[in-house]
Amino acid sequence: MKLSGKVAIVTGTSPNIGGGIAEGLAEEGATVVCVDVASENAAQCADAIARRGGQALGLTCDVTDEAQVEAMVARVRDAYGRVDVLVNNAGILGGLSVLEMPLARWNRQIAVNLTGTFLCTKHAARCMVERATGGSIIVIVSTAGHQGQAGNIGYCTSKSGLLNFTRAAAMDLARHRIRVNSLTPTATDVEEGIERAVAWGRPRPEPRSRLLDFQKMVPMQQLPSPRHYARAAVFLASDDAEMVTGIDLRVDAGAIAKYWPWVPQA
Ligand SMILES: NC(=O)c1ccc[n+]([C@@H]2O[C@H](COP(=O)([O-])OP(=O)(O)OC[C@H]3O[C@@H](n4cnc5c(N)ncnc54)[C@H](O)[C@@H]3O)[C@@H](O)[C@H]2O)c1
Repeated sequence: MKLSGKVAIVTGTSPNIGGGIAEGLAEEGATVVCVDVASENAAQCADAIARRGGQALGLTCDVTDEAQVEAMVARVRDAYGRVDVLVNNAGILGGLSVLEMPLARWNRQIAVNLTGTFLCTKHAARCMVERATGGSIIVIVSTAGHQGQAGNIGYCTSKSGLLNFTRAAAMDLARHRIRVNSLTPTATDVEEGIERAVAWGRPRPEPRSRLLDFQKMVPMQQLPSPRHYARAAVFLASDDAEMVTGIDLRVDAGAIAKYWPWVPQA
């Protein structure tokens, strides 16, 4: 078990990526705090971990509200005495083009994706510094943060901001032995998230419809699933990565490395 004795906070624990990462960290022995603005996502993720014999706590918190974030970290410190790992995964996906994007929708997406990560990092890192425990902070980005995607201005902007947030925070926190790295997922296979929702007692959700056939475009011809991101998160959270900070670990089946006009199946 790579994370025995560690306390991890994961934000945005829907049955998809956040739930997959939370379960993956718990399988390696971490105590996991599942944090979500939607209380059923926090509670059901924690319940699922507990049913499999893990230690977990579900907390409802809006990551854009500093008072709520501060209170959430204080609850974790009171319950377990420390925070070792933070996974900033909460996010709002999707969007509109620069011509269409309403200011209120832009502001909310930037607030959740960028400011929420800043606030959780700030308060979790303060706890790590106070307790002199060191720690690992992981920021979930997206291949859309590396490239210009049409019709997704707020998402692309916030996710690319997170890439340099990661490097700058890594510099601020290096002397406290707190490592900060990002993890880049890409278009994700939907089956595992559907199965997890069903395992959490929900009706089988309809898969999100997609305009492009991502599987044909990606070099490995298979889209990653949340469990693949979870394994990378376990590595970054664990002492195996003790000298790794300020990097972006892409778990994208080769998407970003690809020469853009090449269509692998053609
Ligand atoms: N699904 C993909 O294909 C994909 C690809 C690349 C990157 N990502 C990234 O992975 C992460 C998770 O994506 P997902 O597909 O599981 O999305 P999702 O919509 O299933 O989960 C996002 C979670 O964040 C929570 N959330 C939203 N606003 C919040 C707030 N203010 N405070 C706390 N929680 C809040 C939601 O309630 C939800 O549970 C996101 O950061 C996303 O950008 C996803």
